[in-house]
Amino acid sequence: MDSQLTVNLGKIAKFTNASLPILTLSFLVAGYQYSFYFHFLTVAFFLLTLINFFYRHVQSTHSLLTNFGLIAQGRYLIESIGPELRQYLFTNDVEEEPFNRTERSEVYRKAKGLDATSAFGSQLQFDGSEYKLRHSLYPLDKEALQKFNLHFGEERSLKTGFTLTRPFLISAMSYGALGNHAVRALARGAKKTGLPMNTGEGGYPKYHLMENCDLIFQMGTAKFGVRHEDGSLDPHKLENLSKLPQVKMIEIKLSQGAKPGKGGLLPKEKITEEISQLRGVPMGQDVVSPPHHLECTDAESTVKFIARVQEISGLPVGIKLCFGRESEFFHLVEKMKQLSIHPDYISIDGAEGGTGAAPKSFMDDLGVPLFQALPKVHKILQDLGLRNKLKLLAAGKLINAGSQLMALSLGAQACYTARGFMLALGCIQAMQCNKNTCPVGITTHNSHLQKGLGIENKSERVKNYILGLEDDHYELLSALGKRTFSDLKESDLLFPL
Ligand SMILES: Cc1cc2nc3c(=O)[nH]c(=O)nc-3n(C[C@H](O)[C@H](O)[C@H](O)COP(=O)(O)O)c2cc1C
Repeated sequence: MDSQLTVNLGKIAKFTNASLPILTLSFLVAGYQYSFYFHFLTVAFFLLTLINFFYRHVQSTHSLLTNFGLIAQGRYLIESIGPELRQYLFTNDVEEEPFNRTERSEVYRKAKGLDATSAFGSQLQFDGSEYKLRHSLYPLDKEALQKFNLHFGEERSLKTGFTLTRPFLISAMSYGALGNHAVRALARGAKKTGLPMNTGEGGYPKYHLMENCDLIFQMGTAKFGVRHEDGSLDPHKLENLSKLPQVKMIEIKLSQGAKPGKGGLLPKEKITEEISQLRGVPMGQDVVSPPHHLECTDAESTVKFIARVQEISGLPVGIKLCFGRESEFFHLVEKMKQLSIHPDYISIDGAEGGTGAAPKSFMDDLGVPLFQALPKVHKILQDLGLRNKLKLLAAGKLINAGSQLMALSLGAQACYTARGFMLALGCIQAMQCNKNTCPVGITTHNSHLQKGLGIENKSERVKNYILGLEDDHYELLSALGKRTFSDLKESDLLFPL
């Protein structure tokens, strides 16, 4: 089959190679003999002949162009629009990754405030290969359910503690990875609903602050916004930032599911003058954060660093990590216990998590997926007696209430989602977050592309998504026959066969 295709390509190429100069000459003659207008075709075909010659005899980078000339360009062209062709025409509704069409549509409909029910039946396979929630024979009335409440910092009796009133939050996405319209639309939607938003590791949260929502300030390994020039923590900057009334908690990012063991990456295409100022980095080169905090080289130094950030900020302080080696996590928790220091929360980011930019092998081959990590983390914390000393959060494709409740059944107490909120903003999964070319203006700084992302309009969508998600939570909780979210247990989940 392949060789047949190759033979055909060879024949077409030979035909093209011979036809181009012949047609050029023919149009030249016709231009003199019949009509001047033929000269336009002469020029066009002469240029094509030159390009064809260049491909076959001058350039040596692309073997396909050397061997087959101009027509090989057709392959590159079709390949370049392949993802769009597949997405629009050929893949079925449950085929795409990371989110299939049914999953994306559910978020879109919620965000637009449309009826989010579907008809006829589920499109998923019911062959035992997926997690399912176990409902109760005795569902509860919604009025009987307790409102969600999670108090961060209560274990340390912090006066500056923070109360979360929904079982989900907006996960870290830096200004840099996102454009300013996206940040402001998210922050405005958050403000309208009282949902807190994680700033991501983009440094001083200028655009978040404009919208005045509750913030979790994230400190990545480069500590943008709170760093000394050598990358170590500048305590004065952290102290000042923590005094901002909008900043409710601090999150130390140790690692991220999409690229564990690698610091954040902001490609040079996305570094504007403003971003270079807010982060304190030069323009014109990729910004690669170090793989770990300078201060955190082992369990003891990491735990002591957490204590230092707690002391300087005076706020609840969490850590974010992707679960890797079980023994290392065990040792870290053991050290917390030994030193009587614990973060106010641990957020587990599954290997299936998203990113603005990361090497493919890090996304594909590293880290433990969320539903495998969570039960282990929960158990280690329980075994070492620390489960009641801190909160456990989770992230990793938890874009609907069902998957979030599954995470809560596995020990999490609240869920982060980043891409759920990107979809609410209108993300079409173009997979170009690393290129500054996001066609819907979310992960780009191109002002023309950002024009399509109206801040007020999209903030309404964010608000609708938040309210719709919250509604679904209570619907499902009642079907599960649970009075409170904290009643959820591993036994409420059906595991894949
Ligand atoms: C565009 C984009 C930017 C992100 N930026 C950050 C970041 O600055 N810091 C961080 O810890 N995680 C970052 N993440 C990861 C998310 O916060 C989240 O942990 C991960 O995507 C899992 O959630 P999700 O599956 O709901 O997207 C980013 C993800 C995306 C898609």
